[in-house]
Amino acid sequence: MAAELHPVEAISRLGTETAFDVLARAEALAAQGRDIINLGIGQPDFKTPPHIVEAAIKALRDGHHGYTASPGVPELRKAVVEDIAKYRGVDVDPSRVVVVPGGKVTMFFAILMFGEPGAEIMYPNPGFPIYESVINFSGAKAVPVPLLEENDFSFDADSVLAAITPNTRLLIINSPANPTGGTVSRREFDKLVAGLEAHPQVAVMSDEIYSRMTYDEREHVSLMGYKELEDRLILLDGWSKTYAMTGWRIGYGVWPASLVEAATRLAVNCHSCVNAPTQYAAIEALRGPQDSVDTMAQAFDERRQVIVDGLNDLPGVSCRTPGGAFYVFPNISNTGMDATTLQDRLLQEAGVAAIAGTSFGAYGEGYLRFSYANTVENIEAALGRIRDLLTG
Ligand SMILES: Cc1ncc(COP(=O)(O)O)c(C=O)c1O
Repeated sequence: MAAELHPVEAISRLGTETAFDVLARAEALAAQGRDIINLGIGQPDFKTPPHIVEAAIKALRDGHHGYTASPGVPELRKAVVEDIAKYRGVDVDPSRVVVVPGGKVTMFFAILMFGEPGAEIMYPNPGFPIYESVINFSGAKAVPVPLLEENDFSFDADSVLAAITPNTRLLIINSPANPTGGTVSRREFDKLVAGLEAHPQVAVMSDEIYSRMTYDEREHVSLMGYKELEDRLILLDGWSKTYAMTGWRIGYGVWPASLVEAATRLAVNCHSCVNAPTQYAAIEALRGPQDSVDTMAQAFDERRQVIVDGLNDLPGVSCRTPGGAFYVFPNISNTGMDATTLQDRLLQEAGVAAIAGTSFGAYGEGYLRFSYANTVENIEAALGRIRDLLTG
C-alpha cells in the first residue's frame, strides 16, 4: 500500500532561497554546453586563504576528530570575542558566543525562540529570504520593514518604531544588506535604539555577516556598540563571506546572557557541534593575517564601480551605488518586464544568471539582484549580453 504521510502543516509554509534554484538551472544549462555567466549566487569567487585551509588539515592530523563542546571550542569563542573587541570596540564575555554551522543557524534559532502564533516578527523587505520563510514556519506574523530605493535601501527609524506593537517580539536588522548592498547610518541606528527604550519586549537580531565589506571609507556601524541593547541583542556573524568559507559551514551568534542556555540547547538538540577541524580553521581565520580580507574587499570595490556604471548605461535600468556587501539591486521597472520575466529571459536567452527582486520579498518587485562576486571580465561580458537582450 502506498504511504499516507502527514508532515506538519508548518512545513508547507517554509519558503526557499531562489538563488539555489537559479544556480541549479544555470548549472543544468551549462551542462548542456551553454555559456552561463553567474551573477546569481551570493558567495565570494575566491578560495579560502591557504593558511586557513592548512589549519584545518593540521587539526585533522592532530587528531581533532571528535565532538567538541556544543557552543564551540573555548579557544574559538575567545578568538571571536577578540575579533569583536578589535573590529567593534566592544568587550564581550566568551560565554555569550555560540558557534554554529553557518550564519543561517543563528537566525533559525533566534526566530524559533521568538516566533509562535500571536507573535510578530519584523524583518527587512527586500531582505534575505530565509527571514520571512522561517518566521512563517514558526507561525508568527511576518511584519515587513520596507527598504526603499529612495532611502538608499536603508530604513526610516521612525516608521520602524511606529510599526512595533505589544506583540512584537523580534526585530531583524541586516546592514550591510543582502540583496541591496544598502547600509544603515549611525544616525538612524541612534534613533532606533533610543526609541526601542519604550519597547522592552522587543529583542533585536543584527545580521552583520557583511560587516567587513563596506566601501567609500564607510564605517561599519554595529548594533553591538549600543550598550543599551546588551540584554536584548543577538549578533549574527560568521566566516562565510569574510573569509570565503561558505562551504565550510560555520558562523556564530553572540546572545544576551539570558538566552545563551536556550541557544546552546537548540544546538545540542540539532547538530551537537560544528565539525572540529573547521573550528580550528576559524581560529586561524580570526587570528591569522587579514590581508586576504582586504584584497577581496578591494576587488569587490573595483567590480562594484564597473557594474554600477554599466547598469546605469543600460536602457530602462537605473542603479544606486551600494555601500556594502557584494550585491547591486538595479531598478528594472522601465524595461517593460517584471522581475521574474527579466530574470528568466536573462538566463534563457542571454546566459546571465541574476535573481528577481521578488525572491527577497514583495518590495523587491521592479528590481533584480546581481552579485558582483565575479571577474571584471565576466561582469563586462554580462553587461554586453544584457544590453543585447534589452535592445534586441
Ligand atoms: C544576510 C545574510 N545572512 C546570513 C547568510 C547566511 O550565511 P551562511 O552561509 O554563513 O549560513 C547570508 C548568506 O547569503 C546572508 O546573505
